[in-house]
Amino acid sequence: MSKDSITITDNRTGKQFDFPILHPTIGPSVADISSFYKDTGMFTYDRGFTSTASCRSRITYIDGGAGKLMYRGYDISYLAKEKTFLDTAYLLLHKELPTKEQLKAFSFELKKRSFINESMKKLFDAFPDNSHPMAILSSAIASLSAFYSDSLDMDTPEEVMEMAHRIIAKIPTIAAFSYRYSKGLPVIYPDLEKSFVENFLYMLRAYPHNYAELKPIEVEALDTIFTLHADHEQNASTTAVRVVASTQAHPYAAISTGVSALWGRAHGGANESVIRQLEMIGSIDNVDKYIAKAKDKNDPFRLMGFGHRVYKNFDPRATILKDLRNKLVDELDINSHLLEIANRIEKIALSDEYFIKRNLYPNIDFYSGLILKALKIPKEMFAVIFVMGRAPGWIAQWIELKEQPDMKIARPRQLYLGPLERTPSK
Ligand code: ACO
Repeated sequence: MSKDSITITDNRTGKQFDFPILHPTIGPSVADISSFYKDTGMFTYDRGFTSTASCRSRITYIDGGAGKLMYRGYDISYLAKEKTFLDTAYLLLHKELPTKEQLKAFSFELKKRSFINESMKKLFDAFPDNSHPMAILSSAIASLSAFYSDSLDMDTPEEVMEMAHRIIAKIPTIAAFSYRYSKGLPVIYPDLEKSFVENFLYMLRAYPHNYAELKPIEVEALDTIFTLHADHEQNASTTAVRVVASTQAHPYAAISTGVSALWGRAHGGANESVIRQLEMIGSIDNVDKYIAKAKDKNDPFRLMGFGHRVYKNFDPRATILKDLRNKLVDELDINSHLLEIANRIEKIALSDEYFIKRNLYPNIDFYSGLILKALKIPKEMFAVIFVMGRAPGWIAQWIELKEQPDMKIARPRQLYLGPLERTPSK
């Protein structure tokens, strides 16, 4: 028996089974149970995949206990404070940070592809007024597979990069169009003179919203939000992208699945829910009542923006955004009613035994919702912003999966608790 293995004993029979232990660069070791069913005749059961490593990856590392997050070995706070979102997107796709020239060329490639096919407007037109922009966005991204069906196989690195550039470049345009169509506003085409973030804010906020020149702090804030969302290893939406990619589906279809998975309130929809919840709480006087509801086992109410599946100490992205929020409060003179309620909730929750015992700290969404609101971004666009940030991560994960020759179609098993075979009544 190898020392580098784990032995499992079936106490019913006394039979023992060995499984090799795999060693990551850092982080917990991984028991390789790929042969578990073949060896033991049993499945493993892992609700919500809390103990399951579903793939090998070299992209993002998280240490939830230490509050650490790295993309390709670079600490998130270095990337958020010293680099731009496009640097980060390039890093995720190409494994290295770009030189000045590479960044310029990357930015040019994105600008070139930022327009969408005019006939796509018919798709936007088909949605009823006030459709949620995420509904439009997920459909529009899936429809890219019809507009670019020529490169279905993605056999060459050039084809793959073309797809990556298209998605990252077109999502801001689709996102801004989704919002403007949902509100019945005229769409604004990309301005190639503007930076990635400036162009998006321009397409979103220009006439008739009294588009004023953007303050540098606004551009910095949104760029930072994109960087902080760019990847997060095997979360629900990334896992959805990988599962769909494992079936050999078109990458645009896989990415649109990521958008759908991200929309949920327990995931990327949380920052919109944070603001809706703060609006519902409505007054600082109601905070205690809602904290009590969140703690009540018989009440399904949860404090939005608190807790995380992986971060059980603090979310390093939340720490960066908390500083940024404080800077915005000073520089944009934000002193909203919602901010007061949020501050009160934060203060109580951070000192309340219920939250401390369960390691429930404010997560990235708690702060990003407030920042996006301060940037005058409509709340139904919050998850869309998350998608724009996450797109490079999903694509990097898609590429990694495709590069692994032993990639298998994702096909989990189940613990069947349904009826035995029943005799049909005559
Ligand atoms: N408010 C009140 N109680 C909570 C909260 C919350 N926000 N989150 C978890 N709990 C409690 C649970 O009731 C449970 O209590 P118990 O042990 O007495 O039964 C305990 O904390 C553990 O909760 P789980 O749901 O088992 O934790 P899990 O890791 O599965 O869930 C999740 C993590 C989904 C993020 C959860 O904390 C949540 O729903 N938070 C609110 C939504 C949110 O902010 N989501 C954004 C996540 S970050 C992102 O996607 C970028």
